[in-house]
Formats: sequence, C-alpha cells, structure tokens
Amino acid sequence: MCGIVGYIGAEEAAPVLLNGLKRLEYRGYDSAGIAVLGKTGLQVRKAKGILKNLEDKITPEINSALLTGAMGIGHTRWATHGGPSDVNSHPQTDVSGKIAVVHNGIIENYGKLKRQLEGRGAEFRSETDTEVIAHLIDCYYKGDLVQALIEALKRMEGSYALGIIHEDEPDRIIAVRKESPLIIGVGKGENLIASDVPAILEYTREVYYLDDREIAAVYRDRVEFYDAEGQGREKELAHVSWDAAAAEKGGYEHFMLKEIYEQPKALTDTLRARIKTYAVKSINLEEIGFDETWAEARRVVITACGTAWHAGVIGKYAFEHFARIPADAEIASEYRYRNPVFNPKDIFIIISQSGETADTLAAMRMARKSGARIIAISNAVGSTLAREADLVMYTWAGPEIAVASTKAFTTQLMCVYLIALQFGALRGLIKAEELARYIHELEQLGSHTKRILASREAVQRFAALQFNKTKVFFMGRLFDYAVSLESALKLKEVSYTHSEAFAAGELKHGPIALVDSATLVIAICTQTALFDKMESNIKEVKARGAATAVITFEDTAYFDDTADTIFRIPRTADCLSPILSIIPCQLYAYYCSVQRGLDPDKPRNLAKSVTVE
Ligand code: G6P
Repeated sequence: MCGIVGYIGAEEAAPVLLNGLKRLEYRGYDSAGIAVLGKTGLQVRKAKGILKNLEDKITPEINSALLTGAMGIGHTRWATHGGPSDVNSHPQTDVSGKIAVVHNGIIENYGKLKRQLEGRGAEFRSETDTEVIAHLIDCYYKGDLVQALIEALKRMEGSYALGIIHEDEPDRIIAVRKESPLIIGVGKGENLIASDVPAILEYTREVYYLDDREIAAVYRDRVEFYDAEGQGREKELAHVSWDAAAAEKGGYEHFMLKEIYEQPKALTDTLRARIKTYAVKSINLEEIGFDETWAEARRVVITACGTAWHAGVIGKYAFEHFARIPADAEIASEYRYRNPVFNPKDIFIIISQSGETADTLAAMRMARKSGARIIAISNAVGSTLAREADLVMYTWAGPEIAVASTKAFTTQLMCVYLIALQFGALRGLIKAEELARYIHELEQLGSHTKRILASREAVQRFAALQFNKTKVFFMGRLFDYAVSLESALKLKEVSYTHSEAFAAGELKHGPIALVDSATLVIAICTQTALFDKMESNIKEVKARGAATAVITFEDTAYFDDTADTIFRIPRTADCLSPILSIIPCQLYAYYCSVQRGLDPDKPRNLAKSVTVE
C-alpha cells in the first residue's frame, strides 16, 4: 500500500523524509519520491523501484546542499493507475510545478476530471489519478491552498489521504483524508504528517488522528484544523504507546489479522469505481471494454493456483448462474501439462494475486497461443501477468504481506462477480433492474464484512476450544463447497491442522468413513434451497460423534437444533455469500494458528509467491 510522510521544522527535510519512507517499506511499494521546498523553490525527485534507488539519486545532492529545505512531502507508491515508473511516482505536480501532491487511495472519477482539465489546457505527464488532483487544485488556487483544496475536493469522488505543498506557501503542509488513514505527528518546533505511525515514531508519539474529510494546515509550530466547508475546529492530541513492530501492523498482532480487517475497505475500493450511477446502477468495466463481440463467447475458462483457484471455482459457478455460459475452473499446474481443447471463442480468466506465479503464467501463455481472449485479475500493477495479458482488472486490495491470502481472495471474488454479472447483462439474461439489485447487494458487502468482523470474539472463543482437533472437515454445496475448499486451505496453511473440504453430497461416497469423535465438521450453509440437504449431512456426521459448527445467514433459525455451534452472517444473495462466509473461516484459521503458538504470517514451507515450478 502507498505510504505518505511529510515534515516541516528546522531540520533538512530530505533525510527526514527518506527515513520516514524507510519505516514504511514493510508495506510494499514499487517506487518512491519526495518534494522539498527551500530557497531554490519546489524540487521533486522520484525513482522507480526500491527506496535505495531514490536514496542513491538524492544523497549527492543532499551532501552538496543542492537539495535543501526544511519542509517537504514523501511517498512510497504501490501502483494502481499506471504502472510503476519514475513519472508515475509521487509527488505529482501541476502545470506550473508549484503544487506537489502525494496521495494514497483512488480517485474514481479521475478519467472524467482529466478530460475536463485537458479541455482547459492542462497537460498530463503521468497516467496517475493523483496528477488530476494537482491540476484541479491549481484551477482553484487564488492564494490560499486550503480554499483551493476545499473546492477541488467537492469535485473528487473516491478515497484519499493527501499531503500537499505549494511553492508560494512555504510555511505549511496541507493534509486531508477520506477513507484512507492520515495522522499528524506533533514535535517540538517541528511537525509531521504520515499515513502510518511507524513513519513518525522516531520523532514523536503525540499525534492527531485526522477524521474523514477533515483538513489540517500543518505549520512548524502549530496545526490548524478545518471541516470540509473550511470552518475551524479543535482536536484532541493522542498518545501512541505502540512499539515499532506493533506500529507496522497498525496495532494488530499479525499482518494476517490486519489484512482480514482491511477487507471492508478493499472490497469497497475494488467495487466502487466500477459502478455507474445514473437513473439505475450499472457496471462499468472500462478496463475490459465489453462490447457485443463478447456475447459470441462459447466458454469461460478460469485458471489459477491456490487461493486464486478457489476464487476461480466460485467464478465458474457465478458464470453459469449469471451468464448461462459453460465455465471451467482449472488448476494452472495441471492445465499447463494437459492437452486441452481450445476454441478461439473461449474467454480465459487468469487469476493471480502476485501476477508472478510460474504455473499460472505458463497456463496463460498456452491459452494466448490459442487466440482466445485473456483477462487477468491481479493485485500487482506491472506484474508479468498484467503485462502479458490482453486485458487486466485489478483488485485494489493493496499489498498483501501475510503469506496466506485473505483480502486478495475476497477482492478477486468481487472482480469475478462483476465480470460474470456484466456478461449476463450483455447476453440479455440479466435485466437492468435485476442488475441494479445485485449491485446493491455487492455494495452492502463492505459493511456486512465489518459486522462479521465485529463479532470476531465468538470465533476466537471457538478456536480456543477446538484448536487441538486433529481432523477438521469443511463441507458445503455449490458456492459453499468452493468456500469450504478455501477454508480448509487456510486452516492447513497457518495452523498445520489436517483439514479437508468435501462437497456435502459426496460425504456418503467415502469421506464419512473418516468421521469420528475426534473430528470437527464445519458446514457452510448459505444455499437456501439446499438447507434440508445440509441438515441431513450435519446429522449424519453428528451421529458418528463429530463436533459440528454451521455458518449460515442471521435471519434463519434452520440449523439451531442441529449444529453444536452457529456463526451467523448478514443476509445477501445466496450466490454472493462466499465473500461473507469465508470471513469466519479466515478468522478461525488465524486463531487456531495463534493458539498453537505459530506465526500465521510466515507458515513453514510456504512462499507468498511461487515463481518457480
Ligand atoms: C502461493 C501462496 C498462496 C497463493 C498461491 C497463488 O501458494 O502461498 O497464498 O494463493 O501462491 O498465488 P497468486 O499470487 O498467483 O495468487
């Protein structure tokens, strides 16, 4: 995820900014940059790649006092709009080069704003949404950066944390946020801004947490706060007691838990810019550019590995359900060595968080040769997959640091649902009102996941009782079966428990022979038409002594008399439930790992990205 740091005080800003950016490196990034304001005006330096590249570039200038100034802003970028490059790195500047902006988040209407600004003569140098902000502020600038920002914000849709400086206002940094964190660190004769606590810990532990849409004017010796209309307001200073390690994880004990908790935002970010709201809501996948020719497709083939393959299995069901088109989900490592039958009218969807998994890339290259259309779903802008696929849809989840995938999975699902729904609409199978209803359901998923996370203690207590079980089976039907596959993988990966997933209907064809009183069976039950079938399956395993738990919707009492334990999730359409039902399972895996004294972030024998066979 991108990182922001800003400094104003008596010291040289450049080394302080570099130092702050180093503290944010753990978050993952692909380029970095700083802007320093001093006697020679505003100076911007940027470099693609690791921070060392930027450091090597500017250290001679710092040493020979060519890059001086006691205020500045810095940024580590994780590409979203435009691949990693010097020019796409932040800070971004306006036409005059007097305004510099660093930005975390996504400006959803940046395309429209960019066209309008170009119409007024603005020349864009980068592909970023952030450059739009610099030009927009310039449009409104009449000598007061706060006022110009207030006007610009009225036109910006999306999420942002911003650090802004103007050459004509050398006494202050302006900061604002909406749905992306930003703090102000208060020192003695110096103040800082940062997206995360680790960037400022060396300088101060006294901070202001900016609220949504709140603006801060940060001077060397004071901080002024304004609401979105420019009315002044007071704020209370807070004290940070975290140590550096806890600060990196945002106060969470592990990255895995932090990333599980980031899902409401990641889901909203992935969805929002792709929804058009006119009279009725519709889906706008600009990056794919669906047109009538897509309706000729005969089959959808999804290939991926690990968790991404599970997203593919759900995708298969979603394509059948929404678009009534044959769909397959193929394990890439198998697919690449088979002799598959291709058709140029196939659509291939290749899913990979990292975009670097060797087997997935090999399967993609095979499919390419067949002439089929390729859509990549990836979390990594500029990855090999993103570069080689015809079309790319990004999951805007931000970097995933824990080895076990959580937020990448649910955002992959969001992408898959959007494509499948759009495809159904294109084939005339989903009418506008029905599509709007599904979009409404998708929009609720962010707040629904938040509610599930709020009841995490129930899962924690359950894990404390069950973590020593030597056999854990997940079972379900249809979409719930696919969630079972992912749940069993999560538990294996981080707690080393022997866990398996079964299609509940297959139980009697073999797996039930394994069930005894040492077994825990977790049944995922969100396919309403199949509740009675699931109830029978739960009774069957109970009769053989298994402990049972059910994950189902909160508005049904269907399983109350059958299961030993019930976890409830908010109601959504049965076919969209995987984004919700997986959350208790992710939490369960996490807490079992912690109970067993393991490190869930770095499971033994596993790698985050498997770039070799
Ligand atoms: C590794 C990781 C898994 C991941 C899989 C596919 O095995 O440990 O968490 O699901 O690779 O990774 P990708 O980056 O292609 O999604």
